[in-house]
Amino acid sequence: MTYGSAMAAGYDRGRGLRSRDLGRWMAAAIPYLPSAGGRILDLGAGAGRFSDALARSCGASVVACEPSAAMRAALRSNLPDASVVGGEAEAIPFLAGVFDAVWASQVVHHVKDLPAFAADLRHVLRPQGHLLIRGGFGPVKDLLLYRYFPHAWAARSAVRLTLELIAGVLAGAGFAMVDHVQVEQTFAQNAEELVKKVEARSLSPLAGLPGQAFEHGLSALRSDADNGAFAGPIVDRLDLVVFRAHHQAPAGEQDPFA
Ligand SMILES: C[S@@+](CC[C@H](N)C(=O)[O-])C[C@H]1O[C@@H](n2cnc3c(N)ncnc32)[C@H](O)[C@@H]1O
Repeated sequence: MTYGSAMAAGYDRGRGLRSRDLGRWMAAAIPYLPSAGGRILDLGAGAGRFSDALARSCGASVVACEPSAAMRAALRSNLPDASVVGGEAEAIPFLAGVFDAVWASQVVHHVKDLPAFAADLRHVLRPQGHLLIRGGFGPVKDLLLYRYFPHAWAARSAVRLTLELIAGVLAGAGFAMVDHVQVEQTFAQNAEELVKKVEARSLSPLAGLPGQAFEHGLSALRSDADNGAFAGPIVDRLDLVVFRAHHQAPAGEQDPFA
């Protein structure tokens, strides 16, 4: 999935979070974030939805790393003072041990080489630093939009990552899972907002659908919305999974802290 200019342009419209929901995410993350003076890497930062909230929540400095030039431009326009660099999760362009925490929101499913990703994370995190992964790891069939756009997820189901797989690869690189919580967020306040957000097509499974399949699902969604199928707010529940980096022994040696 390429995050080009169309995706960048619709990102905030389609995926913007309310400040109350950002607050919920930060409340869940704060026990694992450094205090003022610490450093956080916002990996695959996109348009910076979380970069500023992370910095404000704990007073640490945040560096946003994002491979797409269009998304970096959107981020700079949203947050002109942000520290932004180009780079991918499989080749994170930083020195060893410089970060106290890495925040990776809705990024892991884009990573092509998970072992390289895990090794790079371990490299840039200090010992006992935290990796915070935000994403949806529940069954796709539970998603409201799956009902309207089943092919969007069906095409990806063969490569859908499970939390067990991710945790296994991370364990091999010296990470232990220390927390897993679910956080609620309002995707849309009402049916009208739901349709507008879907129209923005900024969810990557929808962006990858052929036009006809997208229009078909959208027209069914509009029809249900017009018929009062969505009475209250549309609430999502996503996962925050936290891993801690252990001390690592040089090859062939025991690690007394592990
Ligand atoms: C769904 S967006 C999430 C953006 C942001 N983290 C957020 O939650 O708003 C996924 C982002 O991951 C980026 N991305 C895709 N492949 C990546 C990779 N291999 N390494 C790092 N980031 C990647 C995309 O360019 C995009 O900005």
